[in-house]
Amino acid sequence: MHSLQKQRRNFFHNAIKIITSSPSSLLASNNISSTAGKVISCKAAVAWEAGKPLVIEDVEVAPPQAKEVRINIKYSSLCHTDLYFWESKCLPPSFPRILGHEASGVVESVGDGVSDLKPGDHVLPLFTGECGECRHCKSEESNMCEVLRINPSSEVMISDGKSRFSTMKGKNPRNISHFLGTSTFSQYTVVHSGSVVKINPTLPLDKACLLSCGISTGIGSVLNVAKPKKGASIAIFGLGAVGLAAAEGARIGGASRIIGIDMNPNKIKYAKNFGLTDFINPEEHEKPVHEVLKEMTNGGVDRCIECTGNINVLMSAMEALHDGWGVVVLVGVPSSDAVFKTNPFNFLNGKTITGTSFGNYKPKTGLPTLVDMFMNNKLELDKFITHRVPLSEINKAFDYMIKGEGLRTIIDMKN
Ligand SMILES: NC(=O)c1ccc[n+]([C@@H]2O[C@H](COP(=O)([O-])OP(=O)(O)OC[C@H]3O[C@@H](n4cnc5c(N)ncnc54)[C@H](O)[C@@H]3O)[C@@H](O)[C@H]2O)c1
Ligand SMILES: [Zn+2]
Ligand SMILES: [Zn+2]
Repeated sequence: MHSLQKQRRNFFHNAIKIITSSPSSLLASNNISSTAGKVISCKAAVAWEAGKPLVIEDVEVAPPQAKEVRINIKYSSLCHTDLYFWESKCLPPSFPRILGHEASGVVESVGDGVSDLKPGDHVLPLFTGECGECRHCKSEESNMCEVLRINPSSEVMISDGKSRFSTMKGKNPRNISHFLGTSTFSQYTVVHSGSVVKINPTLPLDKACLLSCGISTGIGSVLNVAKPKKGASIAIFGLGAVGLAAAEGARIGGASRIIGIDMNPNKIKYAKNFGLTDFINPEEHEKPVHEVLKEMTNGGVDRCIECTGNINVLMSAMEALHDGWGVVVLVGVPSSDAVFKTNPFNFLNGKTITGTSFGNYKPKTGLPTLVDMFMNNKLELDKFITHRVPLSEINKAFDYMIKGEGLRTIIDMKN
């Protein structure tokens, strides 16, 4: 038999069904799960085509290789970045693919060389990692790990360039692409151990999942990047979960004025719930929004946080800044061919523009500060959760986000 065929035969012979949700049943007393080293069959939501509803498929998840961790995903939530790559407006399409990067779960097994994680650990998988060795990991100024930084075009694991996911299409197994190194819309996934953060097992996983992307990004964009002075004015463009988390960062950072801007009139209720001081719907004003902001703040806002991904909004945020010290932080993901334009006098006049991935938190060494805030009730995650759906209804989460209904939808991965 051809060696590849043999490999495939073994792959499927080893397959076992484990759709149990109890991690303890998977664990032997010596911290080795009964499924370690074997292929696991489970359910996953697979994107087969850009913009087409995900399909719940039976998938095979291969065991973790060196420095990898296989995680039983308990909860995933939908972030706009999933929607962005599902729509596939920028990069060459990469389908079939298992999307999802905002999630929580329990370690099922670990590969060789993983010493900081073990089966049964409660964890957050992250779209960006921390190898601890590279120039970026060693610098206080960057969270862009050279080895494990976000890479949307990668479809495979970095250790061997192979996918850990496959599904039967007709009589043949078909590999499925990974996404952001996380692919959390699967009941089991394999992630590089440098992109997995252990959390206290008493934390509720159905809320902690939010810390693995949107909420940390929003808070960090203010506390780690914009760094407003106490009493500052902050304008936040786009009141999704990321923007409202930025508003939380502004509140924690002592801002005196937090102005939310959103075209969706329904977002005014969230602006109120989250304690924003003002709400602007640009469509209700004849003047451009930056002029409205300048009038409201006696010459310009101290900080702007861009959380829509619209390049025109970013340009408008630059105009809305106060000269001398104003800083705008790009958080939203613009289309890859977008071009930012501004009058260079904005820079001569002391305005700054910057951007951030994951709110500049280093996953392993920085994120635990936010997890602690959540544990000590200094950070409320409930208010970001507006919908809950089972995995079988994951497409509803996409519909809610497209229609601008609510904030985060939690996807219960067990059924
Ligand atoms: N940099 C990072 O590390 C990082 C991490 C997570 C998310 N993101 C990006 O942040 C952005 C927000 O994510 P989210 O999950 O909160 O999305 P979301 O869809 O929940 O929220 C976006 C909000 O922006 C509003 N909006 C859109 N266009 C607008 C415009 N022209 N003017 C005013 N408001 C407008 C929408 O009405 C919506 O309320 C996305 O672009 C996402 O890809 C970046
Ligand atoms: Zn690194
Ligand atoms: Zn995200």
